[in-house]
Order: sequence, then C-alpha cells, then structure tokens
Amino acid sequence: MIHCHLNSALTVVLLSSVVCELTGSSANDYILINESRSWMDAQTYCRERYTDLATVWSEWDLWELCTGLNCTDAWIGLNNQHNSYTRTKHWSQVGQEYTEGRRRWSPGEPSDHEGKENCMFIQSDLSLSDQSCCSTRPFICYDERSNISVVISRNMSWSEALHFCRQRSADLLSGWSQLEDPVLQEKIQASADSSWWVGLFIDPWIWSNTNHSSSFRHWDHKQGFMCEDTSLTYGQCVSVGPKGTWTSDSCTVKKTFICYNLTQSAHLNST
Ligand SMILES: *[C@@H]1O[C@H](CO)[C@@H](O)[C@H](O)[C@H]1NC(C)=O
Ligand SMILES: *[C@@H]1O[C@H](CO)[C@@H](O)[C@H](O)[C@H]1NC(C)=O
Ligand SMILES: *[C@@H]1O[C@H](CO)[C@@H](O)[C@H](O)[C@H]1NC(C)=O
Ligand SMILES: *[C@@H]1O[C@H](CO)[C@@H](O)[C@H](O)[C@H]1NC(C)=O
Ligand SMILES: *[C@@H]1O[C@H](CO)[C@@H](O)[C@H](O)[C@H]1NC(C)=O
Ligand SMILES: *[C@@H]1O[C@H](CO)[C@@H](O)[C@H](O)[C@H]1NC(C)=O
Repeated sequence: MIHCHLNSALTVVLLSSVVCELTGSSANDYILINESRSWMDAQTYCRERYTDLATVWSEWDLWELCTGLNCTDAWIGLNNQHNSYTRTKHWSQVGQEYTEGRRRWSPGEPSDHEGKENCMFIQSDLSLSDQSCCSTRPFICYDERSNISVVISRNMSWSEALHFCRQRSADLLSGWSQLEDPVLQEKIQASADSSWWVGLFIDPWIWSNTNHSSSFRHWDHKQGFMCEDTSLTYGQCVSVGPKGTWTSDSCTVKKTFICYNLTQSAHLNST
C-alpha cells in the first residue's frame, strides 16, 4: 500500500515536496523522495530523517517500491564515490558471506587479467577461476527452498545466468557448502560440459550504510554492466530505473532518491 503526504519538515524548504511511503508487507520501509538532489545531498537528507539512502536486499524490495511509485532514475545507496580500485568478493545469494580459504583456485588463478575478470567459474575438479563476466559458459543454479542445485547446460554470460536463476526463484550457486555438496559433484561429473559459472563475483561497490550491506546487485544486464568497471566509465553512484534495474551515473547529477528505515526484524545478520 502507498500513501503520500506533505512532509512538514520539507514544506518549510520546498512547498511542492511530496513524500511517498510504502506501508504493509515490505520488510523494510522504503521512501521515495520526489525531489531532485545530487547523490551526496540525497545521502545527507536520508541520514537526517531515516536510516540512510536505500540498501537493497532483494528484487522484491525494489519491485514493490517501483511498481507503486515512479522510481525512474532514483538514487539508491550503492556507490563507489571514492573511485576505489579495491574490490571485494561476494556470493550473489544474499546472506552468503564470502570467506577465504576453503576452496582451492586453479593454478595461476585468480589471474584478474587487466583487472577485468570479475566473475568466477568452477571446473569439474571444483577448482575456481576468474574470467570476464561477459564470456559465456554453462552455470549452476541453487534453489535454497528445495536445497537443490541444477546444472544448466546453456552458454550464457554471468549476468544472464544470474538473471536466468533468479527468474526461477533461485540464485547462482553460492557458498562453500553448496559447492561441496556430493550430489552436485555427481551431477557435474556426469555433465558433458567442463566449466560452470557460480555466484562468486568481485566488485568495488559499497552501500551508503556500510553497517547494513548487501551482496544483492541488479544491474541492467543488457547494457553489459559487470563486463568492466562501470564506475570508471559511467559514474560512481547508482540509480534504479523503471523496471528496477540499476545503472551508474555521475554523483553530481540531480535525481529523485530512495531512503529507507531499517526495521528491527529485518536483516540483522546482513553485514
Ligand atoms: C513527483 O513530482 C512530479 C512533479 O513535481 C509529479 O508530476 C509526480 O506526480 C510526483 N510523483 C509522485 C510519485 O509523487
Ligand atoms: C523512520 O524512522 C524515524 C526515526 O525512527 C521515524 O521518525 C519515522 O517515522 C520512520 N519513517 C518511516 C516511513 O517508517
Ligand atoms: C516517471 O518519471 C519520468 C522521469 O521523471 C517521467 O518522464 C515519466 O513521465 C514519469 N511517469 C509517470 C507514470 O509518472
Ligand atoms: C542440502 O542437501 C545436501 C545433500 O544434497 C545435504 O548434505 C545438506 O545438508 C543439505 N543442506 C540443507 C541446508 O538442508
Ligand atoms: C557452449 O560453447 C562451447 C564453446 O563455444 C561449445 O563447445 C558448446 O557446445 C556450447 N554449449 C552449448 C550447450 O551450446
Ligand atoms: C555503524 O555502526 C557504528 C557502530 O555501531 C556507528 O557508530 C555508526 O554510526 C554506524 N554507521 C551508520 C552509517 O549507521
């Protein structure tokens, strides 16, 4: 459900400002602020009145917001505003924290050729390698509810593969215990293919609220995001488009933006 009202604090500054908020089933309260600001000014606004600029944990979060409100081109909290080259590994499935060490890499990996190999695949001996996310290969989806991994013998880019899994309420295989499942090992030994994307990726993006982080990404995969370091090419701050997909832009551009209030129950384990 959506209701809009004049924000009394805002009316002093800008009479036409309307604040819309979602109530009801959402795990978080997302608030679209219908006023154009730079990313930094939007962050200040959200921190003063709510928890922060929005951290997003699932497609559902934004789908719910964007079907109700017009969030064409609205800032969210994801950014690389300091233009950092430091990248962090994540599993695509939210809640699976990446830890080093359990699984070996193939010899000479991760090679990170030209700093552009942001997505990881496994071979039949379960060793990991990195490669450009735009190269294509088969992949493994994991459905958490049924605890079943499915080997998909179709060549797709990493982003397309992620999209494929998520459309089926699954995710790319994420986490060492999923990888080490003996049932999966039988499936990949029996497969005619020799390598498969898994959910591991590396990127330089961080959330405005670093205390409540999320590995969830929803790049517009048709625009080739994740094939390269888009923060250097397109800009260091991220906005959400009409279908909930994300693009990056210069942080000084003024856009509407989405704040959030973290509810007590939600995402206490997300760091
Ligand atoms: C946002 O503001 C514009 C113009 O000020 C208005 O046309 C539009 O309906 C507003 N949208 C929402 C969701 O309030
Ligand atoms: C957000 O949290 C603030 C402070 O706790 C509260 O005053 C405000 O009403 C909340 N807004 C929404 C939309 O939940
Ligand atoms: C949504 O916002 C965009 C950009 O501000 C505008 O062009 C479009 O007409 C709006 N759509 C609706 C349904 O309000
Ligand atoms: C998932 O299934 C595997 C066997 O395929 C089992 O070893 C593992 O404990 C199960 N995990 C959960 C969380 O049920
Ligand atoms: C995937 O691409 C490889 C290399 O181009 C090819 O050998 C293989 O047959 C393709 N697999 C499928 C399922 O199309
Ligand atoms: C993160 O947590 C620390 C310690 O609890 C706190 O001091 C800081 O203000 C928090 N930062 C944000 C952005 O909430």
